[in-house]
Amino acid sequence: MILKEKERLLVAGFLKRVPAFRSLSDRRIEQIVDDFTIRTFHAGETVFFQTDKSTDLYIILEGSVKVILLSEEGEEFVLADLQQGDFFGEMSLIDGNPRSASVIADEDSTFAVLERSRFLDAIKQDPEMAIDLMKSLVQRLRKATEREESLAFLAVRQRLVRLFVRLVKEEGMKKDAAGYHVVRKRTHKEIAERIGASRESISKILKRLSSDGMIIEDGDDFLISPALFEEMEGRG
Ligand code: CMP
Repeated sequence: MILKEKERLLVAGFLKRVPAFRSLSDRRIEQIVDDFTIRTFHAGETVFFQTDKSTDLYIILEGSVKVILLSEEGEEFVLADLQQGDFFGEMSLIDGNPRSASVIADEDSTFAVLERSRFLDAIKQDPEMAIDLMKSLVQRLRKATEREESLAFLAVRQRLVRLFVRLVKEEGMKKDAAGYHVVRKRTHKEIAERIGASRESISKILKRLSSDGMIIEDGDDFLISPALFEEMEGRG
């Protein structure tokens, strides 16, 4: 399908802002624009489902989408919200495997869509595109790693605090002059083994809790803030 002049201008303008296409000369952009098709979706419509076998790349010209995972019970987990100028579908585009997530239009949206074979041809002509695409992928991966880190640490933090509450009780609810509960010092490795976490994550979390004045390492003891103890006791 040949794009109308207005659409060509729109797509060409966008490509200059999309990382994977930024390195292209004006002449190459003019050529590749004709490889795109335009697709529109209404708010709430599914662009594609996780495990679909499509492999096209989508650039958001107008509107926004959410990238989601769906549980068998139909619960949504939002991986990312993408806006005008962002792209998606690059994972199946690159490896040819089924879609890693579902994408749903958040509002009425228009996309410029490029077939996998056209993109691979373009990369062969302009290898710089591959480097730019890699940069975008790495940024996405970094964000996902940050998110995983915070999810993992939240879980470990809760396990850690629960362990200290138990230790306070096991060791007789002793308090120091400032009202902090006192429990015998354990190494980070011993704590990690007790709650199924890595020693590194324990050290990191204890450092944070210590700077918040919640759990303080003091000689042969740990001092536990009564605030932290009460908070966890309240939650059970
Ligand atoms: P693809 O696997 O082809 O189809 C689903 C798309 O969702 C995927 O390509 C990426 O474009 C996007 N996607 C998947 N996971 C994430 C994530 N964690 N963050 C941002 N975008 C993602």
